[in-house]
Amino acid sequence: MQRLFLVLCYYCLLQHPASAVAPTVSSEMSSYFVDESNSVTFQCTGTGAPEPAIHWFRNGSLINDTSRFIASQNETFNSSTMIYTVSGSLTLINASVADGRDDYWCNASNSDGSSSLMFSLTVYFGPRLVSRSSDVSVPRYGTASFTCTMSGNERPTINWTFYGRNLSNSTGFMPTSITMAHDNEYQVTSTLTLANVSPDSAYTYYCVGSNQLNTFSVGFNLEVEFAPFFLQDLSNTAVTPPTDAVFTCGARGGPLPTITWTKNNRAITLEEYLSGKYARQTGVTLPSTIYTALTIANTAPSDIADYSCIVSNALGSVNSTATLSVYVRPSILITDEAYTVREQSQVSFQCVGTGIPAPDITWYKSGNLIMASDSVTFSNSIYLNDSTLLYIVTSTFSIAQVAVSDSDTNYTCLASNPAGTDSAQFELNVIENPSSSGSSTLMMSIVAFIFCFFVAFLLPN
Ligand SMILES: *[C@@H]1O[C@H](CO)[C@@H](O)[C@H](O)[C@H]1NC(C)=O
Ligand SMILES: *[C@@H]1O[C@H](CO)[C@@H](O)[C@H](O)[C@H]1NC(C)=O
Ligand SMILES: *[C@@H]1O[C@H](CO)[C@@H](O)[C@H](O)[C@H]1NC(C)=O
Ligand SMILES: *[C@@H]1O[C@H](CO)[C@@H](O)[C@H](O)[C@H]1NC(C)=O
Ligand SMILES: *[C@@H]1O[C@H](CO)[C@@H](O)[C@H](O)[C@H]1NC(C)=O
Ligand SMILES: *[C@@H]1O[C@H](CO)[C@@H](O)[C@H](O)[C@H]1NC(C)=O
Ligand SMILES: *[C@@H]1O[C@H](CO)[C@@H](O)[C@H](O)[C@H]1NC(C)=O
Ligand SMILES: *[C@@H]1O[C@H](CO)[C@@H](O)[C@H](O)[C@H]1NC(C)=O
Ligand SMILES: *[C@@H]1O[C@H](CO)[C@@H](O)[C@H](O)[C@H]1NC(C)=O
Ligand SMILES: *[C@@H]1O[C@H](CO)[C@@H](O)[C@H](O)[C@H]1NC(C)=O
Ligand SMILES: *[C@@H]1O[C@H](CO)[C@@H](O)[C@H](O)[C@H]1NC(C)=O
Ligand SMILES: *[C@@H]1O[C@H](CO)[C@@H](O)[C@H](O)[C@H]1NC(C)=O
Repeated sequence: MQRLFLVLCYYCLLQHPASAVAPTVSSEMSSYFVDESNSVTFQCTGTGAPEPAIHWFRNGSLINDTSRFIASQNETFNSSTMIYTVSGSLTLINASVADGRDDYWCNASNSDGSSSLMFSLTVYFGPRLVSRSSDVSVPRYGTASFTCTMSGNERPTINWTFYGRNLSNSTGFMPTSITMAHDNEYQVTSTLTLANVSPDSAYTYYCVGSNQLNTFSVGFNLEVEFAPFFLQDLSNTAVTPPTDAVFTCGARGGPLPTITWTKNNRAITLEEYLSGKYARQTGVTLPSTIYTALTIANTAPSDIADYSCIVSNALGSVNSTATLSVYVRPSILITDEAYTVREQSQVSFQCVGTGIPAPDITWYKSGNLIMASDSVTFSNSIYLNDSTLLYIVTSTFSIAQVAVSDSDTNYTCLASNPAGTDSAQFELNVIENPSSSGSSTLMMSIVAFIFCFFVAFLLPN
């Protein structure tokens, strides 16, 4: 019984050392660093007897947010020193910038007292945009400026880029001003000043903040105010129906100009666009630069007109005009024909050709161009059909007195214009005039008779 008591008592002494020891806390690190949205684990070791409890504080308040903080601990007991050692850890998940502004405490306490240790946390972030000036529109030759403020930790540097290139100090990149928003949190402000702006200055300028962690850019648009001018004028165009015709014009202006297309000085209406006859495509390649194309679908002679591209903005208006020519291949309305005529009679062939522009009509005999002469004449008339807009050319080829030698199987009428040619063949058979040939024989006989008569009459004298 006594032995049992002694054993129990010894056991009690082991578990509850006679002398209480106030806790001490220690840590290998007092400053912690983490990239934003990563996790960080604070560690602290408390020793003492009885066993100390570890509690974590933030800005003086007990941490009880279990969704973002996970605490754990291990205990060991050194039987020779009779002292407890408690290893505690506190893991912060998804660190935010605000977490870096707080201070963290580890507190070890037991019945004999307490002790605590402070940790600092630096959350690396940014660069992040704090503020920016707005996009601006300034008159040509004026001055524009943009300001951006970025925060970060480490400290961001700010550079300005234009068309992907660094802008140097000389272009008006003002030195940065640096302030501290919080401990360890830098705010860097930079101003870009652009003097004497030109149309080429109009585009997006980027304020580029960079630190070890990241790079962040923010764009500023500069619009330069100037009256429009053409980069590309309209060019005269010719099409063969029903090919589509396209006119293209390009212009610059600030603010970005609007474009109106006209046909013979009358604006093409929305209904006409909706009908599908006209289509407009507009592309803005850069701020203040606009390209536009007008497509005239399924062309016909009625599309022949002057077309204009009118480019306007608040500061002015310019126009460019070009002509659409519609070429229609010649077509000869008369089919091949054959004529048989008597010698010495007058012969006329007529050929009617249509087309746009008005076709030229020429005549050939077995492939040789026929020229005008005393006996050969040509007459041409041109007429415009108001409804089809086709030119109708009538060409008449006449021979005053045909000879047998004028017979040919291939008289050709050729109509030609820039869009093509068409031809028709005529056959001419000239037949000898039998009565004419007989009368001359008779005449010769009469002459011979008279001659003989005179000879016979005179000889006796
Ligand atoms: C957590 O602690 C804060 C003070 O630090 C207190 O206002 C809040 O009520 C506590 N929440 C819980 C669930 O204990
Ligand atoms: C507790 O011990 C386990 C196993 O030895 C270890 O994985 C864990 O990190 C320890 N926790 C603390 C808070 O030291
Ligand atoms: C207990 O403490 C003593 C003295 O500080 C040390 O020598 C010994 O290694 C410790 N034992 C354990 C298990 O930590
Ligand atoms: C981390 O916290 C931010 C807010 O601070 C939240 O938007 C984000 O979803 C969180 N990420 C994760 C993985 O929980
Ligand atoms: C902790 O204190 C700092 C300043 O001392 C303050 O900026 C921060 O908001 C505080 N954090 C909380 C959670 O109250
Ligand atoms: C540690 O925590 C205990 C109990 O929560 C408190 O009484 C004591 O003041 C704290 N000690 C320190 C140094 O903050
Ligand atoms: C920004 O400009 C500074 C000089 O003003 C230069 O030292 C730095 O390398 C530049 N940084 C970047 C990212 O262009
Ligand atoms: C700007 O200059 C810095 C060096 O000063 C260089 O690292 C960076 O690549 C340059 N950026 C561009 C867009 O040229
Ligand atoms: C930029 O210009 C400012 C004065 O306007 C000057 O103080 C600074 O040294 C210049 N920086 C560089 C990189 O040339
Ligand atoms: C086209 O420009 C000329 C001056 O270049 C102007 O006289 C004419 O009125 C303009 N036409 C239209 C339709 O704007
Ligand atoms: C008629 O002459 C034209 C040249 O004028 C030639 O192209 C065509 O083939 C000829 N036709 C015949 C049937 O010989
Ligand atoms: C014009 O051409 C159309 C279609 O071929 C025809 O019906 C009309 O009679 C022509 N008009 C005149 C005045 O020739």
